[in-house]
Amino acid sequence: MEKIIDKESFFEIIAKRRSIRVFSNDPVPKADLERILAAATFAPSGTNSQPWHFVVVKTESIRKKMAAAVEAKMDEILTWPETADKVRRINAYRRSFTFFGDAPVVIAVLGKDHQTIVRKTIESHGVVQSRNRPSSAHLSVAAAIQNLLLFASVLGYGTCWMTGPLIAAQEIEEILGVEEPWYLSSVVPLGRPAEHPVIRSRKGLDKVVTWMP
Ligand SMILES: Cc1cc2nc3c(=O)[nH]c(=O)nc-3n(C[C@H](O)[C@H](O)[C@H](O)COP(=O)(O)O)c2cc1C
Repeated sequence: MEKIIDKESFFEIIAKRRSIRVFSNDPVPKADLERILAAATFAPSGTNSQPWHFVVVKTESIRKKMAAAVEAKMDEILTWPETADKVRRINAYRRSFTFFGDAPVVIAVLGKDHQTIVRKTIESHGVVQSRNRPSSAHLSVAAAIQNLLLFASVLGYGTCWMTGPLIAAQEIEEILGVEEPWYLSSVVPLGRPAEHPVIRSRKGLDKVVTWMP
């Protein structure tokens, strides 16, 4: 087989990617974003449906508006009676849900549902799956996001896959003009890293792999 990239380097790219939550203000050239987004689109997807769309936000006022919507939702949640005894614990999430507003680029990743004729038939037949399984579309969008993160890190950019901001998904969709059938799936801030966190530990293979005899 043709050797495209050294396998140890590729493993290193995967293993050394870290979530970055502090970014420099260096601008991100459009050509780099185009390559990163192209990498995302080479992800596999159910029946090659490619159920993703990427809204690239560079304008500071829009980024800040998105983050402010998450802040406001946090504040709202903290007025609910059931949060009265959890204020400190909930507030601990505030920064990790809102820091994306300070990144030079924010990519709002949208998804849309996609069902094969087989799946539609199964559901119309009344077969209800007993467990909450992710849809093929969700998994496809996730694969695109992982491609995006990895190729961004190859180009020296930091990213963080974020679903925390989805507490204000509706408000962010309104800010960005997202319309059905699209929905906000994740938020990915991107920029040159201004922090260099150490690799977070992972469970060993003995904990996550079952080798069938
Ligand atoms: C689906 C998903 C959602 C995440 N949401 C957030 C988030 O809202 N805020 C945040 O700071 N990190 C978020 N993360 C990043 C994780 O905290 C991070 O990937 C994990 O701690 C492992 O660290 P690493 O990415 O540096 O290896 C998310 C990651 C994934 C995969």
